[in-house]
Amino acid sequence: MAWQALAAHARAPQPHLRERFAADPQRFQHLSVAWNDWLLDYSKQRVARDTMPLLYALWKAADVSTWIARMRDGDKINHTEGRAALHIALRHGKGTFMHGGRDVMPGVRAVLDKMERFVESIHGCHWRGATGEPIGDIVNIGIGGSDLGPRMATQALAAHRHPGVRVHYVANLDGADLATVLADLQPRTTLFVIASTTFTTQETMQNAQSARDWLVAELGAAAVARHFVAVSTNLTEVARFGIDAENVFEFWDWVGGRFSLWSAIGLPLALAIGFRNFRELLAGAHAMDQHFFDSPPAENLPGLLALLEIWNVDFLGAETRALLPYSQSLALLPRYLQQLEMESNGKPVDRKGRPLQCAVAPVLWGEAGTNGQHAFYQLIHQGGRLLPCEFIAMREADFPLPGHHEKLLANCFAQSEALMRGKTIDEVRAEMQAAHIPESVIACLAPYKTFPGNQPSTTLLLPRLDPHNFGALVALYEHKVFVESCIWNINPFDQWGVEYGKQLANRLLPIMAGKASAADLDGSTAGLIAYCKE
Ligand code: F6P
Repeated sequence: MAWQALAAHARAPQPHLRERFAADPQRFQHLSVAWNDWLLDYSKQRVARDTMPLLYALWKAADVSTWIARMRDGDKINHTEGRAALHIALRHGKGTFMHGGRDVMPGVRAVLDKMERFVESIHGCHWRGATGEPIGDIVNIGIGGSDLGPRMATQALAAHRHPGVRVHYVANLDGADLATVLADLQPRTTLFVIASTTFTTQETMQNAQSARDWLVAELGAAAVARHFVAVSTNLTEVARFGIDAENVFEFWDWVGGRFSLWSAIGLPLALAIGFRNFRELLAGAHAMDQHFFDSPPAENLPGLLALLEIWNVDFLGAETRALLPYSQSLALLPRYLQQLEMESNGKPVDRKGRPLQCAVAPVLWGEAGTNGQHAFYQLIHQGGRLLPCEFIAMREADFPLPGHHEKLLANCFAQSEALMRGKTIDEVRAEMQAAHIPESVIACLAPYKTFPGNQPSTTLLLPRLDPHNFGALVALYEHKVFVESCIWNINPFDQWGVEYGKQLANRLLPIMAGKASAADLDGSTAGLIAYCKE
């Protein structure tokens, strides 16, 4: 019913956004919401005031509140893997958090305390390398959720960096990734964090092996214990690799890869920003959890973002969303959210295994402003596609250089204004006439200078990018993804689609090495392998 009501509402004639603003002087007040000192302005979305109650009805119809309760109760809502999704416990702070009849918090706190001791021993130069020198460079080796979160967060919180260490990230199987990082480092002062939930991921294991070879070549095998630590749920495989049990930071199977920043996977981030800041990050995420759990949909920031996305994707036909942080520090946020959103909700079947009847996760893409303006904004303004945009900006700069931040904000607000208003051909003509441009030139150029506008956007305004606000920001998107999954009725916590490619790569390896026959391969794959071997 709620779905059909929205579909009927979307079929009704929709005024242009500039007409909506002209007709309703209170539009911004009604279609924006504040939380603490944050502001979410969605008045530039293609919604009317009466669209919103229909979207709230969708939340109710999908029983989102019951799903939230099930997550909090530690139910195995990741039903295809038989697991709970308890990333919220990792930032729960004080009190108990029950799962399977047991309180998980003592374990969570024990790992956090172990991480804190380790970070302090590195920063205090008590932990030393095999030659007795302090550690100056940390290299995190991991991929996907074991890389993107801490990598993105290390850049986002660069203004809060601990001065004593440099943290690097290596993910790609391409040797160029590891080799270029190691080129500038010394084995004597380098520590590797091998981060992998499963400790079997091909990319991570290959990079870890090559890093080990690099270290052992200069310092010998006995040095591994002082230069390698691991973050994993698979203690057996870690031991097989040769990392001392003492130097393993554990987490649990109820922490999904792309939701793991708050676990020991955050160790390189904690090393980069110090443990006090890491705890602030957890507190910020917890504050967002509380807001998410306690707020009705009309005031619920993650809920509103989810509902607006569903409106754009399922009722207006948008196929993508552009994520446009006006913050260089958040330049990796689009990449991080690609995994969080597209790996979580890019699914073909519902929770009962039936083919989905609606469009789900749009393609997410984006770039830090203003760089994007000089790359792809042309298409957003005049390319003729519906491309919802999400702007994120901070009221205060994290690197306050005179003259920069006001211009940055002016650009951010100008872009959403231009996308909303557009420019009619009459406005273009009047502007050119006022500039005394000859009529013949006006006639020729006016169509090129016309903008359709009506491009929907949301602007999220934060006070500043500190660990607390940043933690809340990441948690906001986690919960947005969850609400969407409830409404689309899909499991956001598995990722079977990634498995097939891995499986085929393992099958091709012996063929490429000439140890197995290519007879069963399709013509293209066999042809590519043969060409490489020639
Ligand atoms: O991309 C698939 C995936 O399983 C992600 O969910 C995960 O973050 C990544 O691979 C890395 O896995 P692991 O931490 O086990 O190495």
